[in-house]
Amino acid sequence: MMITAMLPAHIKQVKALLDTCFGESAWTMESLRSQLDKADSHCTVAVEGDTVIGFLAFEQVLDEGSIVDVAVHPDYRRRGIAKALITSAVNSAEGLHTVFLEVRESNVPAVRLYESFGFERIGVRKGYYQKPKEDAVIMNLSISVCNTPNPR
Ligand SMILES: CC(C)(COP(=O)(O)OP(=O)(O)OC[C@H]1O[C@@H](n2cnc3c(N)ncnc32)[C@H](O)[C@@H]1OP(=O)(O)O)[C@@H](O)C(=O)NCCC(=O)NCCS
Repeated sequence: MMITAMLPAHIKQVKALLDTCFGESAWTMESLRSQLDKADSHCTVAVEGDTVIGFLAFEQVLDEGSIVDVAVHPDYRRRGIAKALITSAVNSAEGLHTVFLEVRESNVPAVRLYESFGFERIGVRKGYYQKPKEDAVIMNLSISVCNTPNPR
């Protein structure tokens, strides 16, 4: 498994991965293209051979980062791939002091993943998500206490 910058050539595979992970409403080809083109956005993929098995969209403005999305193909979960994607993004970001994210309250695997880095719950956005409607938990990590374990 290798982590590398996402290229336009990865878009189709990333879209298929995200459809598998979130259903078809999650990301369109257009939204992926614009995420890739966006200033301050850093998209990375985990690849095995030629196959994309993980995706991370990370943004940074000044000293503040945010995890926009992270997904790993169901066949490759619990192997440290999401952890490796996040660790790589955080370690390669310069001047980062804090990272924010939003996550569905019911998404236990994701919440546990973020907690394993030391992210803490700092608030709730009521009814933030649609289909199904659900609150978002806002989480924050202060980089000075960042626990970035070595990827497996
Ligand atoms: C959340 C997700 C990205 C985790 O990917 P992953 O590669 O399986 O995660 P990792 O193997 O790096 O897990 C790291 C740690 O997170 C926690 N974790 C991950 N999946 C978990 C689960 N199903 N249950 C409990 N804890 C879990 C564990 O602490 C794990 O460490 P451990 O395996 O040593 O116990 C993956 O389940 C996924 O793609 N889910 C669907 C998309 C999604 O919901 N993304 C988050 C959007 S906010």
